[in-house]
This record gives sequence, structure tokens and C-alpha cells, in this order.
Amino acid sequence: MSHSTTLLALLEEASGAYVSGEDISRKLNVSRTAVWKQIRKLEAEGYVIDAVPRLGYRLSGRPSRLSLHDLLPKLTTRSFGRNLKLYEEVGSTQDELRKLAAEGAPEGTLVIAESQTQGRGRMGRSWLSPPGKGVWMSLLLRPQVPLVFTPQLTLLAAVALSRAIVRVVPLDIGIKWPNDLLVNGRKISGILLESAAEDERLKYVAVGIGISANLDEEDYPEELRTKAVSLKTASGRPVDRASLIAAAMEEFENLYALYQQEGFAPIRMLWEAHSVTLHRPAALLTPQGVVEGVPEALDDSGGLKVRLKDGSLRTVYSAETPNS
Ligand code: BTN
Repeated sequence: MSHSTTLLALLEEASGAYVSGEDISRKLNVSRTAVWKQIRKLEAEGYVIDAVPRLGYRLSGRPSRLSLHDLLPKLTTRSFGRNLKLYEEVGSTQDELRKLAAEGAPEGTLVIAESQTQGRGRMGRSWLSPPGKGVWMSLLLRPQVPLVFTPQLTLLAAVALSRAIVRVVPLDIGIKWPNDLLVNGRKISGILLESAAEDERLKYVAVGIGISANLDEEDYPEELRTKAVSLKTASGRPVDRASLIAAAMEEFENLYALYQQEGFAPIRMLWEAHSVTLHRPAALLTPQGVVEGVPEALDDSGGLKVRLKDGSLRTVYSAETPNS
């Protein structure tokens, strides 16, 4: 750990109390002048540190920007998020990750950006990614499974992310098939899987994750205000983005290991338990037309089995579904 990261950890441990310069210089094994330099470095990153003669230093504000100082100590994973790139602004984190994937980056590589100018969503839509307010990131997977299993990973991603979010913000989160996360019918997070394949096998999957963490009402264009909501607005308090990212990496790594050991069955059960799509009548807008019925379960490849009015079952693999 760098000196400034250790210093930050010391100030955080004190939970708002003062830590003397002497203590810090002893624990860091550096001079008082060197401590001061590290304090200035943290301040330049946006931390607010009160310095009072004879009392020492205390942390009284954190940057609204994500920092590796904040994030790295929170990461508990073995590989997910360990190869980490943090950018101020990119077109899309998906594109940055794909470049790294093509250069041979390892599984678990994570690209995070404070803002995206060309953030993209499913079905060719754009994705609102204002600076400093959300979690805009892409995770690299290199699963040893046939291409047809990609939808299973889509569902795994939704379960991992919803478990991660509730660990940080106590909200009732539902998964709308296949992988939108909703709070009271409004979208708080979206997932976009893009894959590269060779000979029907997956070379890699770029899991794009957008979490509307601290957006305010006015950040959303008018037409999205009834459909989307941020964790901050839904819970009434700002969310620590570094904790969200760390929790997401942990949940992903664990669920992915479970998937590799036991296959899709446990993931399917978890997805079904979190779903707000199953057992509710719906009109699904598929590329082949509208399918009306009651979604009953997932099939093995992640498709949605829908009971039609005539009693027959139809499996839908791609569709727009209304928020519920
Ligand atoms: C959706 O349509 O619901 C999926 C949205 C996915 C957005 C994320 S933000 C990080 C990553 N980079 C992108 O350009 N898109 C994904």
C-alpha cells in the first residue's frame, strides 16, 4: 500500500476523531514533513482534512470522485477487479475493456469510468452516464462454455448485482427479465453483455454494468423520470460508490465460481427468487411480435417460458418487457 493509502486508512479508522501527526509519522515510518506532503496529496484528490495544532488531523470530507485509495482497501476478491483501470472519461467502458481483452487481459479485469460520452444500453439505446454520479464499469469474463450459454451469464450478472446493491443500500430490488434491476418498478441499474466468439465458443464476455447511484431527479431527462430512479433518491441518502463496486466484485466472483462448479441450476433458483417478471401477466414485445401470457419459469438457456392463453408454453429469448 502507498503511504497516502495507509494514511487514509488511519484517518478512516479514527471515524472523525483527530489522529496526531506524531502517531501518523510513527505508523508510516516517515518524517512529519513527509506526512504533511501525503496530507496535501489526499487534499488534492478531494479529501477534506482538518489540521489542528496539537490535535493532529481528521478526515471531514471525501471526494465525490472515485479513487483507488478508496476502492482498493475495500476489495476482498481474489481476481475480480484486481486488474483495474479507472478513467476520468471514456466513450464507453465496454470499448476500453474490449481493447484490453483483445490484448489478452485476464479474467476479472475491470474498467471503471467517472463518465461516459457514448455509454450504451441494450437494444441499441444510449445510457446516461454523467460524471461522478454513477457506477459505470465493465468486467471481463473468459468462461469456458459454449456461446449458447451467454444468456445464463446475463442472468447471473443480474443476481450478482442485486445481491451487491442490497448489501450497501437496504432496498427491495426486483429483477425484470432478463437483467434490469428495479425498485418500485423504476430502473436503478442495467446490464449489457457483449461477447466475442470463435468456433461457437466464447472467447470473452464484456459485462457492462451501469448503476444509477447518486443521480438527482434533475439529472434525468423528462422522459426517464417515471421509469428510472437512483439509489440515492430511492433510499434518501447518497451511496458510497466504492463500496458498491467492491460488493459487486465479491458477489460476481462468488456466483461465477458457483456457476463453474454447479452449473446454471443454483443461479436460476436465485434469479427466480428475485424476479418481478414471473407469475405476472405480461405483453412481451419480441422481434416476432407481441407474446401475451404469464411467464412461469426460466429454461436452461436463460429463455423465459411463457404460458399462453391457449394453455401452451412458449419460450421467449429476446423481448422488451414492461416495468412492473
Ligand atoms: C441497459 O440497457 O439496461 C444496459 C445498460 C448498461 C450500461 C453500462 S454503463 C457501463 C457499460 N458501458 C456502456 O457503454 N454500457 C455499460
